[in-house]
Amino acid sequence: MEQTFIMIKPDGVQRGLVGDLISRFEKRGFFLKGLKLITVERSFAEKHYEDLSAKPFFAGLVEYIISGPVVAMVWEGKNIVATGRKMIGATNPSNAEPGTIRADFAIEVGRNVIHGSDAVESARKEIALWFPEGLSNWRSNLHSWIY
Ligand code: TYD
Repeated sequence: MEQTFIMIKPDGVQRGLVGDLISRFEKRGFFLKGLKLITVERSFAEKHYEDLSAKPFFAGLVEYIISGPVVAMVWEGKNIVATGRKMIGATNPSNAEPGTIRADFAIEVGRNVIHGSDAVESARKEIALWFPEGLSNWRSNLHSWIY
C-alpha cells in the first residue's frame, strides 16, 4: 500500500492546527503509520530540502523549519501521495483551491503550514530520512470495507 511523508510545519504546530490537520487525513480514510513531534537540526532540514538548496528562499525555508517542533507523519492508503498533495493544495496559499489545507489555513508561501511528498520516490526517501527507526505495521480491520 502506498505511503507518503506529511509534516506539520512549526507554524501549524504553534497555531494549534495539529488536530485539525490529522483529522482531515483520518476522515478521508487514510491510515496513520508513524507520528512524532520533533525539532530538527539545521543540517537535517538542509538534507530534507536538499533539492531546493540553490533557490533564493532556501536559507529562510531552513530557518523556518528549525524554528520550532514539527509533527512528522507517515500516512498510508490508495494513491496517498497524489491525494495528499491535492488535499494540501498549491505551494503558494494564494493560489490554493478553496477547501485545501493551504487555502483554508494560510496566506504566505513562507508559512504554508504543511509539507507532503511530491512523488512516490521522494516519499520513500523522506520516510527513510525522518523515520530511520522504522514504522508500525498495524493493519486496520476496517480495511476490507473502506476500499
Ligand atoms: P516546494 O517543494 O517547491 O513546494 P511544496 O512544499 O508545495 O512541495 O517548496 C518547498 C517549500 O519552500 C514550500 O512549501 C514553501 C517554500 N517556498 C518559499 O518559501 N518560497 C517559494 O517561492 C517557494 C516556491 C517555496
